[in-house]
Amino acid sequence: MAFFTVFGNPVAHSLSPQIHDAFAAQHGLGIRYLPSLTSAGQFRRAVSDFFYCGGAGANVTVPFKESAYELVTHLTTRAAKARAVNTLIPLGFGQLLGDNTDGIGLITDLRVNCHQQLNQRAVVLLGAGGAARGALHALLEQPVASITVVNRTIARAEELAQDSQDSRVTACAFDALAITSGALVINATSISLTDKSGTASLPIATAELAKATCAYDMMYGAEPTVFMQQAQNAEVNDVFDGLGMLVEQAAVAFKLWHDLERVNTQQVIEQLRSQLKG
Ligand code: ATR
Repeated sequence: MAFFTVFGNPVAHSLSPQIHDAFAAQHGLGIRYLPSLTSAGQFRRAVSDFFYCGGAGANVTVPFKESAYELVTHLTTRAAKARAVNTLIPLGFGQLLGDNTDGIGLITDLRVNCHQQLNQRAVVLLGAGGAARGALHALLEQPVASITVVNRTIARAEELAQDSQDSRVTACAFDALAITSGALVINATSISLTDKSGTASLPIATAELAKATCAYDMMYGAEPTVFMQQAQNAEVNDVFDGLGMLVEQAAVAFKLWHDLERVNTQQVIEQLRSQLKG
């Protein structure tokens, strides 16, 4: 029996164990995947203990993705660019490879599940934290026309744009945002997490948001997020949450750990969607 875990805090409600169990069932694999609640002070120890005891792979979620980036001995190119690690792969002799499957999970969900065209698309990326950084670097691998990074703290958006060293990326404040007609707007802010009341909204005028043809929130929940509600009010054609991204990033990790070519993500997304609604 191979053991897997996800390190996080909080982590009790993580859907990762269920997603990995579902993929394992598809392939008739016997795995045990459990959540590991840890603290900033204990994270490094918890990771080394897990792999010392024979752990076969681990995921890392909020708030430890940057700490995981710091502790691994090897990094994939995409994890190095994102400066965050969400997947740990043991290489033996205490060596750990850190990968970041969030960005490719987002791109796969947008293209395959949400049927979004990225070729020459204008993209607006809301947020400039870790989630936005990962999304930005994955989007830059695509032939998008432009990416406008919009953030409450404009200096962070400017830094992200400058760091990317790509002329397609510009930074903008919320109050100066002019959305290109047909744009894809992605919410990578943590507003749904930080605003417990669920009433705060992003400062984008409805008429401006209405110019977009797709609004995508990297967060998900039983109910549409505040950003999704804003997009629905603006009558944006396609509005999606990040449940598909969660399943797609897990699929990439699963395939890496088990050396597999394909997993059926549609089946798992549908299963989780009906459970969330349930
Ligand atoms: P993460 O790693 O999840 O991206 P983070 O690094 O703390 O977390 O970044 C959170 C992002 O959400 C930031 O872009 C933050 O904006 P600031 O840089 O101005 O702090 C954004 N954010 C969080 N709460 C927000 C709110 N209520 N309104 C607008 N932006 C918000």
